[in-house]
Amino acid sequence: MKFLVALLSLSAIAAVEGKDFVYKRLNKNDTMLLVVDIQVGLFQMARDTSPEEYRNHALAHSAIGPLFDIPTILTTSAQDGPNGPLPKEIIAMHPNAPLVMRHGEVNAWDNAEFRAAVKATGKSQVILAGITTDVCTTFLALSLREAGYEVWANTDASGTFNKRIADEANARMRDAGVTTTGMFAIALELMRDWRSTPGAATVLPFFDQYLPAYGYLARGHGYATQNGTLIPGEAELL
Ligand SMILES: *[C@@H]1O[C@H](CO)[C@@H](O)[C@H](O)[C@H]1NC(C)=O
Ligand SMILES: *[C@@H]1O[C@H](CO)[C@@H](O)[C@H](O)[C@H]1NC(C)=O
Repeated sequence: MKFLVALLSLSAIAAVEGKDFVYKRLNKNDTMLLVVDIQVGLFQMARDTSPEEYRNHALAHSAIGPLFDIPTILTTSAQDGPNGPLPKEIIAMHPNAPLVMRHGEVNAWDNAEFRAAVKATGKSQVILAGITTDVCTTFLALSLREAGYEVWANTDASGTFNKRIADEANARMRDAGVTTTGMFAIALELMRDWRSTPGAATVLPFFDQYLPAYGYLARGHGYATQNGTLIPGEAELL
C-alpha cells in the first residue's frame, strides 16, 4: 500500500513536472535550412495567403540562413520547364549555397544529389518551406523524419491552394512528428536570448524588414527613448 501510494505520488510529480515530455528545440549549431521549390512559376499556387504576404514570408524564410549563419540548400523542380527559377532575391541571399535542380523527382529526397547535400551539412535539425505545402514541403518533411532528422516546417513560408489543403498537410506532418510553426517562433527559438550573437542587433532589423508589427514596435520605442515626451493622459496610463 505504502509502495502504491509512493508510486502514485511519484507519477503525480512526474506529470506536474512534465518529466515524460522533452522539449526539442532548435539549436542554431545543429540546424540546416531548406528552400524547396519556391519558384516564380509555382508562386501563383500559394493562395492560402495574399501574394504580398507570401512573398514576404518566402524571403524571410530564405533570410534565416544568413541571419543565423546556418547551412542552406536550395532546390527546384523542373526549373527549365514551366516552374521557372527561384526568385532572384533568394538566389542573391545564398551565393554559396548548393542549388539542386531536380528534373523529375517530386519529393526532393528522391534525388541523390539533394540527399548528399543534406547529409554533407552534418546537421540533425531541418527547417524547411516550399510550394506547395502538401506536396513539396510535406513529402520531403516525411522523408526527413523517416531518415531520422528533427524537422520544423515554416508554415508562413509554405503555400498551397487553400486553407483546407494547408491544414491537412500540416496535420499530416505533425502526425509524423514535424513541428509546424511560423517565422517568428523559428527565429526566436534559434536566437534564444536577445543578448546572444546573433541577437537583438541583427534580429531586430530582420523583424523590421519582414515582420513590421514587431519592427515598428521597436522603432516606436526607439523614437520615444531618443526624443520622447509624455503628452497629457499618457503618464496616467503608466
Ligand atoms: C553553439 O556552439 C557554441 C560554440 O561551441 C556554443 O558556445 C553555444 O553555446 C552553442 N549554442 C547552443 C544554443 O547550444
Ligand atoms: C524632439 O522633440 C522636440 C520637442 O517635442 C521637437 O521640437 C524636436 O523636433 C524633436 N526632434 C526630433 C529629431 O525629432
